[in-house]
Amino acid sequence: MDCRILRSLTLKSDGHLCCDDSTGYGLHLGEVSTKPGWNIKKVFEGPVWAHVRRSFQEGRVPWPGTCEECELLSPGAAPLDTLATSVVVRVEPTLSCELRCPCCGRMQEVRRRQGDWHLAPALFESLLKSCTGLGIEVDAVVYLGLGEPLEHPAFSSLCELASKFVPSAQQELTTNGNQTYRESVGSGRLDRIIVSCDGVRQSSYAKYRIRGEVRRALQFMRDVRQYAEHRPFLEWKYILFEFNDSDEEIIEAQTTAEEIGVDSIMFIVTNSRFHSKRFLANRLFSFPLASPIASLSPAAAMQKVLRPGKVTFGLSGTPGGPPCRLFVDDCVLLTCGVVQLQGWALGADGSYVDRIEVHLGETAVGSARTMHRRKDVPRAIPEAAGPYCGFILQFPFPAASQPGHAIALAWRYGSDAPRGGEIAFGLRLKIRVGGSAQYFDGVASFPPFDATVFAAEQHLPAADSGNGTSDLVLISIANQKVGDGSQFALSDSIVR
Ligand SMILES: C[S@@+](CC[C@H](N)C(=O)[O-])C[C@H]1O[C@@H](n2cnc3c(N)ncnc32)[C@H](O)[C@@H]1O
Ligand code: SF4
Ligand code: SF4
Repeated sequence: MDCRILRSLTLKSDGHLCCDDSTGYGLHLGEVSTKPGWNIKKVFEGPVWAHVRRSFQEGRVPWPGTCEECELLSPGAAPLDTLATSVVVRVEPTLSCELRCPCCGRMQEVRRRQGDWHLAPALFESLLKSCTGLGIEVDAVVYLGLGEPLEHPAFSSLCELASKFVPSAQQELTTNGNQTYRESVGSGRLDRIIVSCDGVRQSSYAKYRIRGEVRRALQFMRDVRQYAEHRPFLEWKYILFEFNDSDEEIIEAQTTAEEIGVDSIMFIVTNSRFHSKRFLANRLFSFPLASPIASLSPAAAMQKVLRPGKVTFGLSGTPGGPPCRLFVDDCVLLTCGVVQLQGWALGADGSYVDRIEVHLGETAVGSARTMHRRKDVPRAIPEAAGPYCGFILQFPFPAASQPGHAIALAWRYGSDAPRGGEIAFGLRLKIRVGGSAQYFDGVASFPPFDATVFAAEQHLPAADSGNGTSDLVLISIANQKVGDGSQFALSDSIVR
């Protein structure tokens, strides 16, 4: 059991440190102060943090009844606690926001918030100085929270404080983009800017972004490209709702994204009210990805780790030239039925690669650019072009929607409840670099499943014993063999 609270600090604009999800936002874990003698170590050593850390170490949730509902709980992952050495600092610059998105938790927080709406820069400075003073590395500063960060009257001064006290931290902003770039960010240094812009047409955009103007969000992105000094990584985040999910609008957004020059347009499958009914997490193969900078991902709330897996690769195809380098550190199945691979890739000479695609059989099922920061890679590979060689690849678990390539075993003996066996499937990662492609063939496998849970998650028909003795439900059939099929009688429940 894991939660990113073991690796991050979330500072609300009123100075409280809290659980950083809308479910746990009301749970206060401590307070940042400018009083002499205050430091973050005292907060960590206090009873609340001790309880949180011990609970996860012992495989329990710290806040029963709340954590189970929380977007950040990963029930299937091992706890990873880095608080003593490195953290991501998440900051809510302000609770203020002119927009009225119907599913945003902001109004709820407005009702219970008693303190300041705008973060005092001195509090932010105190937290950053305390971390550095104690040798806790701040890997990233993320400006987000329940409000619109750029409505903070001195947003750029927050960026300046971070640049001064934690200069190596990556600074990331998520904004609705309805502000003027030069007035709000100005000369503040940002390394990643994510603009929430759910549509390209005012009529569909404003159904969710009530009071918002799509024209302003698009202009914001154009201004980032024109005025930002250090060419930040710019991502357009497009949440798929039932009113902005036509093929025409999705394709128009990709064309507009290319014209603006964003680095990525990420379409998000959400499970909130008004979510797209056309595109669900386990039904993504027909999504019209038309641009090389476009990708698709489940919303944060759907990214809990259900089950860790493993993936092994061998280099299989190098049509000319020395091989690229590829490493996959992490392979997990998320609760929404999506497989996530995290790793890094570099060209043979250490250059950045253009793109990584994942193929199941002949079909490309997901792709990503290497845009995530991996500070460890340039340390180990001096010729690496830089740290932005990390990728996160997501694709629907093949058993659910890609017949022919995955093998999922679930069986039942007589009247026993169905039980699951290892699930494995072959996949190919194709690395595109400098006009050519190299590929790596691998096998991803997940340890035995509880077949009932899996069937429910994937909305698959559960095994139905046809002959009363034993069943093997082969969710799909591939050219490869996993396990000893001869032990089982094949049932009629073959889902193709
Ligand atoms: C509360 S907003 C704060 C930042 C900023 N005001 C914005 O809207 O981007 C935090 C994040 O929630 C996302 N969000 C809002 N409504 C959502 C929904 N229905 N499903 C998934 N994410 C949503 C936004 O896109 C944004 O990335
Ligand atoms: S899972 Fe629990 S500890 Fe983690 S952020 Fe959510 S409420 Fe807090
Ligand atoms: S713009 Fe962001 S903070 Fe404002 S209401 Fe919408 S989701 Fe919430």
